Parts: sequence; C-alpha cells; structure tokens
Amino acid sequence: MDYKNYIAEKLSIEGVEKDALKSFIEIPPNNDMGDFALPCFKLSKILRSSPVKIAQDLAASFVTDEHIGECTAVNGYLNFKINRQNFAFSLLDTVLDKGENFGASDMGNGKTICIDYSSINIAKPFHIGHLSTTVIGSALCKIFKFLGYKVVGINHLGDYGTQFGKLIVAFKRWSSVKAVEEGRLKELTRIYVKYHDEAKLDPSMDDEARHYFKLIEDGDKESNELFEMFKKITLEEVDKIYKLLNVEFDSYAGESFYNDKMAPVVNELKDKGLIKISDGASIVDLEEYGMPPCLILKSDGSSLYATRDMAAAVYRKNTYNFDKCLYVVAYQQNLHFKQFFKVLELMGKDWAKDLVHVAYGMVSLESGSMSTRSGNVVLLEDVINKTIEKAYKVIEDKNPTLENKEQIAKAVGTGAVIFGALCNNKIKDIVFSYDRVLSFEGETCPYVQYTVARCNSVIAKCGELGDYSGVEMNADEYQVISTLGKFEETIKAAAEKYEPSLVTRYAIDLATAFNKFYMGCKIVCDDEKVKNFRLAITKAVQITLTNALTLLGIETVEQM
Ligand code: ARG
Repeated sequence: MDYKNYIAEKLSIEGVEKDALKSFIEIPPNNDMGDFALPCFKLSKILRSSPVKIAQDLAASFVTDEHIGECTAVNGYLNFKINRQNFAFSLLDTVLDKGENFGASDMGNGKTICIDYSSINIAKPFHIGHLSTTVIGSALCKIFKFLGYKVVGINHLGDYGTQFGKLIVAFKRWSSVKAVEEGRLKELTRIYVKYHDEAKLDPSMDDEARHYFKLIEDGDKESNELFEMFKKITLEEVDKIYKLLNVEFDSYAGESFYNDKMAPVVNELKDKGLIKISDGASIVDLEEYGMPPCLILKSDGSSLYATRDMAAAVYRKNTYNFDKCLYVVAYQQNLHFKQFFKVLELMGKDWAKDLVHVAYGMVSLESGSMSTRSGNVVLLEDVINKTIEKAYKVIEDKNPTLENKEQIAKAVGTGAVIFGALCNNKIKDIVFSYDRVLSFEGETCPYVQYTVARCNSVIAKCGELGDYSGVEMNADEYQVISTLGKFEETIKAAAEKYEPSLVTRYAIDLATAFNKFYMGCKIVCDDEKVKNFRLAITKAVQITLTNALTLLGIETVEQM
C-alpha cells in the first residue's frame, strides 16, 4: 500500500499536481505525531493562504476511511494517522509471503548499470585502503540487482604502467619463480620496496625498468610471461578475500585491456579539434571549466590513466549500453573523474551525463604503528583474519558450548569488517577499530546478527504460526511493524543515493526496535492469538534483517 499516493489522491487539491503533492508528504521522525504529515507552507504560495488556514481547511473536509484513521491540523501541518491495525496485518502478510524477496522490486525494469569497483592494482598488496570500494561497490551491485537492474560488476585492474618494468628488474635481481610462488604478494611487495631503495642509489635501474616495460608492450614473450605470473598470483590472492567478503565480478577488464582501444578515442579528439599540444604532450584544455588540462598523451606518445578511462567508458557504452556507469573510487580522485567526464561531454557523447563518480572517504587503522608505509602495509587479509580470530575468542568467552564455532566466527568476523566499513555515510573518513566493530553492543554487525539468532530461537520455540486476527497492538509492537514498513523505501533510497550505509542504519534501527519489543513483550504467553501475532512479528524481522544483511554481503547465523 502506497500511503503517500493514497493520501495525495484523496486530498486532490485544485491547482496542485498529484505527484507534486505526494512529494511534499513526509514521514515524521516520531510516530506519536502521526504516520504521515503534509507541511502546508509548501502550498501557501499556490493557494495564497497561510499554512495554518490551509491545514485547518483540509482537515475539515477530509473524510477518514479504513486506511486513514485520523487527519488533524497542527501548526500548519496536516497530520495523518493510518489505520495501524490494517496496515500491520497486511504488511506482516506481505513480508511472510514474499520472504527473501521482501523489499525487491522491478523498478530497474531491465535497465543496465555498470559498477566499476574494487579495481585493485596488480602486484600491490590488497590493503585496507581498498576495503571501502570493494564493500560499497559490492553492496551497490546487490542492491541494484534486487531492484530489477541488470548489473555489470567490473574490476578495472591497475595492470599497466612502468611499475611492471621495475618489478621485472627487481625479480631478476632478487627473486625467483619459486620464491614468488611461495611468498606470493608479500614477496612481490618485498622486491618492489627493495627496488625503490636500490634505485635511489643506482638511477640506471630506472632505464632498465623502462626497457622491460617497453618489452611488455611490444609483446616480448619472457617479459609478458613474468607479467602474467604477477597478475595470476595477485588475482589468486585477492580472490580469497573476495570469497570471504562474498564479492563477485562480471568482468576483470583492466587498464591494459584498453591498449588497443585508445587510438580511436585519441583520433576522435584530434578530429574534433579538442587536442592542444603543450610541451610536446597532448592535452585537452579545461580552463574554461575551472579545471587543469586533462593529459591525453605524454610527449613520448604514451597514454595516461585518463586516456585508458576514456577508452574504457566508450567500450562499456558500446558493449553493455549502460543506463548508468558508476565508479566507486576514493574522493582523492575527484578531479580525475570530473576531467575525463567533461572531455567525453566535449566530444559530444551525450551519455557522459550517465557517468557517476561514487566517491568515498579514507579508511585507516586506529593504532599508529600499523599505518600504511612502504613495506609495512596493513593487508586486508590480515585485518579480516584478525577479526575472525577475535570473534572466535568472544564466542569462546560468552558461549563456549556453541556448535560450529569456526563457521560462526567467520560469519561474525567478516560481517564485522564489512558492516564496519559501511556503517557511516560513505564520504566520511573512517578509523577502523577491531574492538568497536566486534562489540556486541551498539551499532555493530554482531548486534544485528545476534538479533537474527534471537529471532531464530524464538521461532524454534514457538512452532507453527496460527491465527492472530483481531489482536490489539501495543506501542512496542507497532514500532517494529512501522520500521518493517520502511524497508522497501530504504533500499530504494540506498540505490538512488548510492549509499549502502542507509541499509546498515536501517538494520540497526530494526534490530533496536525488535530488541525493545523482545524485552517488553512476552512472546510465548498464554493468549494463543497474542503469541501468534508476536511470532509473526519475529518471523518478519528475521526475514527483513536477513535480507538487509544479504544485500551488504553479510551472512547470518542460526545461533550465536
Ligand atoms: N586502480 C585504481 C586505484 O587503485 C582505481 C581505479 C578506479 N577505476 C577507474 N576506472 N579509474 O587507485
């Protein structure tokens, strides 16, 4: 039931479009005031009257019915109370009936959305800095799919650049296939750091590195084999993390994939007269738009990060014909995205307006000693494993006889990492704290998972769900149900604002409402109907919290 729509239709005010009226209707923060409210100052211009008078007139002529039980004017607001009984019963029916599809919709209507996320760099450690893009992007993929979009998840690998020449030099001097296969990314990092130390003393190494990079580009067999090995090792290592975090991609087309796809873009830029030569380099002047020039080709003719991104955007448009293409990348790269979006627009690509930089803040660790320095980076894998270990210890402490402790610790530990990275507005910088994300109190994943486990144990105790018709609701019960009623719009808002934190926030609110209800209302009680009603609420919460966590890539556990 779309109450806003229903109210707007029922009010039908002359001179005001129904959709506009609908958009004015708000949900008051506190449902004591009512369930919906129309701030009448929004109408005073059109109706040439004071908000107070408008509210009074509208209230006087409003006829209540089986859906809207009350309509009152308060200080220029028109407050509506829905028929809560009706609403509650039909919502519970919907949730129980839809189950894992509760909250899903077909609003995407088959539209395609490309999401560029995680986009790690080959041969570099997968460190905590890549956590946000990975979990935000993955959650957005799942949310958009849930809303009926066709989603293409893309890992735009950083697999191009002179650093790979450097790595070959370092490999030849200080490593071996055996050492790399054993030491994996840690070995690659070790030799890369060593390269930088040594190259300071011996600048000729950089010439050698350039030479090897050129060999990769020219298709030299040995250099490419080494490069492929670095790539393979990196992908194998990150895949373990992706599996833990329930992250999946449809494409791993990275920067080097566009080697042969840039020339047409550069030619088009030239043909359209957009290229200027500055100190031998090809640039697009963006002064008019208040930005520094976008570099397209260096003076030696080699391409840049932006050139590759432009070729990638064109390729994605041609291949997937996206309706939107999102880039989940830290705000440090704001300028880069603004620049190449602008250049595509200047080229006359009308779809440039569909490119969106979904920017997010930095993640750092609490303890200074673990800060990211060359050679002393904080690997994401270590963070996840340490969180799982800590979760295991907490379980040992609180509930030592629990079965499947390892599996539960894994779900709780990884969930804590994901939820911890998603619980704030994405643009905020966050400091990651093991203790905080693993706390069972407050706004954390274990708190939500524990609530689901609590629901499960109630459900197991109660048995079959029977009739609850005619039951009167109390305030705690209604609070849970009204929160359940906000799930669908929360998912939509999370998609519209590219903000998965709305879903984490929601999960906390629902868990909090449920726990207040659980403490205040005896579920297994003598009145059979009341018991059934409370069981239905519990089942609906179990379903909705599970759906919310699943959209974030977080697993629930039967017991905790
Ligand atoms: N690999 C880059 C980095 O780690 C991010 C790439 C983001 N995606 C893109 N299409 N530019 O900074």
